[in-house]
Amino acid sequence: MRTLIKNIDHLYTPDLNRGFGQVLDLQKVHLLLEDGCIRQIIASDQPLPEADEIIDASGKCLLPGFIDPHTHPVFWKTREDEFVMRIEGKSYEEIAAAGGGIRNSVRKFRQASKEEIKEVSRRRIARFLEFGVTTIEAKSGYGLSTKDEIKSLEIINELNDEQALDLIPTFLGAHEVPDEYQQNRAAYVELVCKEMIPRVAERKLARYCDVFCERGVFTVEESRKILTTAMDYGLKARIHADELAAFGGAELAAEIGAVTADHLILASDEGIRAMAERGVIPVLLPGTTFFLGKDQYARARTMIEAGCQVAISTDFNPGSSTTQNLQLIWTIAALKLKMLPGELLWASSWVAARSLGIEQQVGSIEPGKQADLVILDIPNLNYLPYHYGLNHTYMTIKNGRVVYKRLNGY
Ligand code: NIG
Ligand code: FE
Repeated sequence: MRTLIKNIDHLYTPDLNRGFGQVLDLQKVHLLLEDGCIRQIIASDQPLPEADEIIDASGKCLLPGFIDPHTHPVFWKTREDEFVMRIEGKSYEEIAAAGGGIRNSVRKFRQASKEEIKEVSRRRIARFLEFGVTTIEAKSGYGLSTKDEIKSLEIINELNDEQALDLIPTFLGAHEVPDEYQQNRAAYVELVCKEMIPRVAERKLARYCDVFCERGVFTVEESRKILTTAMDYGLKARIHADELAAFGGAELAAEIGAVTADHLILASDEGIRAMAERGVIPVLLPGTTFFLGKDQYARARTMIEAGCQVAISTDFNPGSSTTQNLQLIWTIAALKLKMLPGELLWASSWVAARSLGIEQQVGSIEPGKQADLVILDIPNLNYLPYHYGLNHTYMTIKNGRVVYKRLNGY
């Protein structure tokens, strides 16, 4: 099966020879796909090859399919009432301390069947393809019992097998301390380490383990214990770090060699330096800062200057960031993190792929790689974060197959 994408105005891909933020901009080219892979980039003065399917991309831009490296898509009910409480002046932490927030989602998650949750999750993740996202990292974390965490990870793995979007599973049993362990947090940490992690690892239900290391949630010591236990079982570490308080999460990520540290709004200079030295990838989630109505954003420029390659993500979840629109996150990242379009391209392709260990297959447009692509109805790359709030996707291609096409007529 050969597909020809012809008359591409701009083909943009990270320029891996020149480094973070530098972009290859190939103008007026054609791209030949074969059997799900990228076969050849063809200059406009070359003859067009034979193909079974032809896609006309005139006036459009082609990019690597977006990769979203931090999402929480497996939940039951939404939390719009808490959103209104925040408008009225309550903070995310106050709502969580009063038993809302993640624990609210956990109570609901436990009441629903696996099939029910799988069905709503399937519909939610389909929206990622509409926005040009071809791979997401997907965390458990609304079960917080062995049974319910396994239910969540099974849903992620089954959805990965059953539909086009790739989901890479992360075990987040340490997302919160559930109601029944509020008076005995040490016992919950034991449960995560002695029961959940061994079961998850044995059944190969997750590739990564994550912890919400935060004031009022898991301490640095608890997080270290959970993540090093997971690493002993062959899971790699990611960590929710320094989001609501400067808490030493970035330092811990560097100390244990986590693959990523995420959020990092209040990460210290020392933590950022240590992450750069150790090669920990910052995953920045400016949509969350925006949606929580806060003013202080992660210091992306300091991280980039320190030598970090930065990834960005929606953080899609029912509490602190409810959008699947990674293109909107580009705009927020541009305005609030002062990230340039070329850096955002890297952050949503190559760096995100590296953070998930899939950069040999996806994350750039090169012959031999998997044909995960997005065709955007924009005149150039700068236009994507500029014309904000809507979906510029014309077509999403996954493994060489068209999995989303914008309806004609708008
Ligand atoms: O990344 N910080 C922890 N987890 C999510 C919030 C989850 C929720 O509120 O349900 C986050 O922001
Ligand atoms: Fe998160």
